[in-house]
Amino acid sequence: MNHGFITFEGIDGAGKSSHIEALAQWLRARGREVLLTREPGGTALAERLRELLLHQPMDALTESLLVFAARRDHLRQVIEPALARGTTVLCDRFTDATFAYQGGGRGFDGQVLVQLESWVQQGRQPDVTLWFDLPPAVAAQRRAAARAADRFESEDETFFTRVREGYAARAAAAPGRFIRIDALQPREAVWAQIAQSLEERGW
Ligand code: TYD
Repeated sequence: MNHGFITFEGIDGAGKSSHIEALAQWLRARGREVLLTREPGGTALAERLRELLLHQPMDALTESLLVFAARRDHLRQVIEPALARGTTVLCDRFTDATFAYQGGGRGFDGQVLVQLESWVQQGRQPDVTLWFDLPPAVAAQRRAAARAADRFESEDETFFTRVREGYAARAAAAPGRFIRIDALQPREAVWAQIAQSLEERGW
């Protein structure tokens, strides 16, 4: 049985969060045990690192080291044990976000990220990544209607253009894992695309 690890990605304002709970319910209705979690975060230590990442000024290497430190703790304490029990793990962002935000957005060295990824993950990768893609200008309008911006959300459109390109590069490198969701569609159409693509893959 395909129990697996599903991640949700996209620039801030793409609307991924509202679909995570819906997918959890859809999978539970099919008899699966489901765990919802997020990055940076998911453990007490990683949630403290998240607070620093979102609000404390730092350079791109420090950002990268902190996201991978948080990820290491999260994998060891939560994700790997859940997968070992046969639980399906839904994670709001994972390493593709590091390649997109620190690599693309901040312009940090991708080779260093590849090295950190291999040290921290020991080969672990999501089985499926739902990438909510939409133009940065539209995402900015959606964010403007939401709450106060953190260090990433307050970046300008050129930053989010580079983040989007970072996601596109990761998707091109792992086409079997990525499902690109057209996040410009109305919410019901987005959900229909998610359910249909997972069904086609035997979920
Ligand atoms: P998110 O969970 O989308 O925040 P929100 O609570 O606003 O929905 O993500 C938090 C921010 O962290 C987001 O702007 C992207 C950033 N981030 C990175 O820069 N690198 C990473 O590796 C991860 C996982 C997130």
